Amino acid sequence: MKKIVILISGLGSNMQALLEAKLPCEIAAVISNRADAQGLEIAKAHGIATAVVAHRDFADRASFDAALAKVIDGFQPDLVVLAGFMRILTDGFVGRYQGRLINIHPSLLPAYAGVNTHERALKDGVKIHGCTVHFVTADLDNGPIIIQAAVPVLSNDTPATLAARVLHEEHRIFPQAVRWLCGEQRWLDAQGRIASNRLEQVGTTLISPGLD
Ligand code: GRF
Repeated sequence: MKKIVILISGLGSNMQALLEAKLPCEIAAVISNRADAQGLEIAKAHGIATAVVAHRDFADRASFDAALAKVIDGFQPDLVVLAGFMRILTDGFVGRYQGRLINIHPSLLPAYAGVNTHERALKDGVKIHGCTVHFVTADLDNGPIIIQAAVPVLSNDTPATLAARVLHEEHRIFPQAVRWLCGEQRWLDAQGRIASNRLEQVGTTLISPGLD
């Protein structure tokens, strides 16, 4: 069975969705860069090993990333899952885990890479927003896309209401992405594209605002 390590920084609701999804993999550890991350308690309650590598204890990104990699490698994971991990990683770290490092991002990439995605989407007046699970590459929020979910943006949305609608979908697509990768139903091919051994489902169309 494949092993995964999950990295968090805060609430850990995406991590919790993964813990509760009965995934076909062993969740070897949850690691946080903040000792006060609420998600650590949730992980402990699920009987998962936890560790803290506090970025504030290190002089620069490279030394933090090296210490983090050492702890991760102690668990020998097949997949490293960034679940609300709010640190930008060095190219060295990303290269070390190339093809086995994934992230969830609260926008329909390549739109709204970076932070404050919901505020920016509202400001632009887009009618559809969403979330993306992707492989991590040296370009921020720019690696091969595994799965996306789209939600409507409503006229009375605030960043908070829109974030909640997106987060609900994050909790659905993230376990699916990990299930695919752990079950070898989706993988990165030699050209760096997502390959699959499954027939694609058409899914549903989202038109926003809806037609009368
Ligand atoms: C999520 O919206 C995630 O996409 C973003 O930060 C948030 C983390 O939420 N990167 P949680 O810690 O998983 O609850």
